Amino acid sequence: MSAAPLDNPNYWDSRYRQGDAPWNRGSHSPALEEALLRLSRPGRALVPGCGCGHDVRLLAVRGWEAVGVDFAPAALAQARGHGGPASIAYEEADFLTLPQRLSGTFDLVWEHTCFCAIPPERRHDYVRSAHRALRPGGKLLGAFFLRTGPLDPPPHCFTLEELDSFFGSHFMLEAEWLPGQCYPGREGEEILRLFSRKD
Ligand SMILES: C[S@@+](CC[C@H](N)C(=O)[O-])C[C@H]1O[C@@H](n2cnc3c(N)ncnc32)[C@H](O)[C@@H]1O
Repeated sequence: MSAAPLDNPNYWDSRYRQGDAPWNRGSHSPALEEALLRLSRPGRALVPGCGCGHDVRLLAVRGWEAVGVDFAPAALAQARGHGGPASIAYEEADFLTLPQRLSGTFDLVWEHTCFCAIPPERRHDYVRSAHRALRPGGKLLGAFFLRTGPLDPPPHCFTLEELDSFFGSHFMLEAEWLPGQCYPGREGEEILRLFSRKD
């Protein structure tokens, strides 16, 4: 396990400030673009650990009112610097202790490289925050790294059984699929899961 203080915003902030953010591919997740075609119509979406906001911007361009949450100010400064549609908002907050003002107001939570980056012992807090963020009937759509071989975390990778056990208490699995598109080099490493919020 990594000794990185993954629950400390200063750790993440300094990585952004030093330009040491190899997870930032400079554009939205190709898997999100494809996955959005499966959702009926746009509403209000939250992106936990949004980093530089590439996925937030794609959601907004596709008609969503999109809110990016991150606790690293330098990430949000970069995200804001990229601009985008007026329907975008960014919130500096710890997603694992979701502020009351964000509770129960979203139709969609898009998970991409946040769940895999938090301390393992905080995963239940992530699931509870995602559940709390959503309105009744809301969906959690996520790209998760599959545990296909040894890898030095983070990112943490998961088996399907582990994903079932983390999310099953608060969410129903509606669909899962291997993305047809992904960042170069991530082929076969991700699985997409669509969950609906249990009321
Ligand atoms: C691996 S990076 C991924 C960023 C972005 N999703 C991307 O793919 O470029 C993880 C992000 O989650 C943020 N983060 C980690 N824990 C967080 C928490 N508890 N609350 C809010 N943001 C968090 C970090 O600051 C960082 O921007």
